[in-house]
Amino acid sequence: MKSVLHRMLFCGLAVSMTWIAAAAEKTYTLAVIPKGTTHEFWKTIHAGAVKAQRELAEKGVTVELIWKGPLREDDRDQQIQVVETFMTRRVDGIVLAPLDSQALVTPVVNATKAGVPVVVFDSDLKSDKQVSFVATDNYKGGVLAAEHLAKLLGEKGKVILLRLAVGSASTEAREAGFLDTLKTKYPGIKIISSDQHGGATRETAYQASQNLLNRFGREVNGIFCPNESTAIGMTKALRDIGRAGGKVKMIGFDSGTQSVLDLKNGDLQGLVVQNPMLMGYLGVMTMVKHLQGQPVEKRVDTGVVLVTSENLAETKIKELLRPPVEQYLN
Ligand code: BDR
Repeated sequence: MKSVLHRMLFCGLAVSMTWIAAAAEKTYTLAVIPKGTTHEFWKTIHAGAVKAQRELAEKGVTVELIWKGPLREDDRDQQIQVVETFMTRRVDGIVLAPLDSQALVTPVVNATKAGVPVVVFDSDLKSDKQVSFVATDNYKGGVLAAEHLAKLLGEKGKVILLRLAVGSASTEAREAGFLDTLKTKYPGIKIISSDQHGGATRETAYQASQNLLNRFGREVNGIFCPNESTAIGMTKALRDIGRAGGKVKMIGFDSGTQSVLDLKNGDLQGLVVQNPMLMGYLGVMTMVKHLQGQPVEKRVDTGVVLVTSENLAETKIKELLRPPVEQYLN
């Protein structure tokens, strides 16, 4: 009896060692596809993905990382084409930030049907075919912005929301969190504009901001912008009319270099910050776990925090504002 048990244990050990060895020898080819490649935010995502690649390599798991996305976050055709290219190439997995929550559904469904699993990160998709969704709680990010702006305004005044783009689920959730909070909790705050979009670049955001301030620049008391490019464009436009420096209370999003400077110089009174390094890292790690047959969470929350002059100097906040991107992107 004992020898049979020994043989069974030995076989079991041998099988598991073989499995681990096989898993270790496997090379995974992953396509990581951001919404765009212009903003600093995406460079930090890329650095996080490389960090995961290096850690996996140390464990004997080789990942070939292909980083490819549209230049601009509004180039739907380009992003769809990139997804379809990697589906045709039958990469082992696609890690995708869909720039349009509807337009990318069919390409993701088709990739999944072709046996190429998809992890969605950063911005949600109107589908349940993805393996996992790794992102900020963006609605909460909008709530944080509204609560802080209301406090700064003494719960009364006129407010503008400059949106990013139609179809951008991440920023639409922030915009909804912001507006819902003001409408339900702060009746003394009047939203004088919430239907304009800044578009995919700082330049388009700056133009949209100038147009808004031409109309409301003298009466507005507070403004929220839901991403890097809209925050930078609006803050520049406020400086142009001499109403930066806290004259208009301005809340931005994302830790772009310019926005961090604007927070330090007093042109921004709050900055809602994500953790793109962790998002890129967990996007890759989640896909590899899935490919290795391990269970993965359907929703992975990578965190969001409000940064102000009060907590700017805290170690954890400094790490979020200045992630070690150059350590991974040489
Ligand atoms: C922005 O778009 C969003 O999807 C990202 O989270 C980031 O805030 C980049 O411009």
